[in-house]
Amino acid sequence: MNLIPVQLYYEEFGKGFPVVFLHGFPFDHTIWEPLVPLISDQARLILPDLRGLGRSPVPDGVYSMRLLAEDVLNLLNTLKIEKAILVGHSMGGYAGLAFAQAYPHRLAGLGLVSTQAGADAPERRQARYQLAEEVGRKGVKVVAESMAPKLTQNPEQVKSLHKLIMQNKAKGIIACLKGMAERPDALGWLSAISIPAVVVSGDADNFVPLERAQTMTQLLGKAWLVKLPGVGHMPMIDAPQVTADALNQLIQMVISG
Ligand code: MLT
Repeated sequence: MNLIPVQLYYEEFGKGFPVVFLHGFPFDHTIWEPLVPLISDQARLILPDLRGLGRSPVPDGVYSMRLLAEDVLNLLNTLKIEKAILVGHSMGGYAGLAFAQAYPHRLAGLGLVSTQAGADAPERRQARYQLAEEVGRKGVKVVAESMAPKLTQNPEQVKSLHKLIMQNKAKGIIACLKGMAERPDALGWLSAISIPAVVVSGDADNFVPLERAQTMTQLLGKAWLVKLPGVGHMPMIDAPQVTADALNQLIQMVISG
């Protein structure tokens, strides 16, 4: 297994306990921007672009969730951070769970936003490989056009998410799709996670249904669920205050031990 990390591009805001935000697929750190003014007086926010996306390097190969976790470890080491809270959105949550399994001693809390712990069903996996092949032939617009309208009901946000997706390279998108398709099931070991965790999920999410969030919450040792009525796959954009409140509560819980 090639687990050679890359140096991720990142931005930083605020001071205090470190909280690393991992964006979903196929976005970059800017999706978290609505949360920054709502959380940065509580903590030190570190917002990387995951490999293959945004301004981070786009190396060859399949980006397994474990490899994404390795990049996060590398970032923590570079910043000399011993323990952090990880907040992962969707694919960023898959990477966060891979990190939790490999490096539990480096983790103080987990925020799981619009994400799930199960592996892909065979048909979903197949659809990802098909999409990867199509992106190879026709380019990033295939993903932008199919995903953006399903992410949120806000037409302005659909436009800006479409634009954001288009800024990425086909190579990085294909590598992420294959990495997500190959990701192992995390449901079996989730109950071993004993740090505080908050699970945030919209009941209008077209990508990860609310039931998956409920399952994760039940399995995690010390977790609570924040359900967002009428919200889709992007709670940080469509419900920033409620999402920030949930994460601030997690941060306070970690800080107060
Ligand atoms: C994401 O937002 O990261 C993706 O929708 C996750 C997925 O396709 O499973």
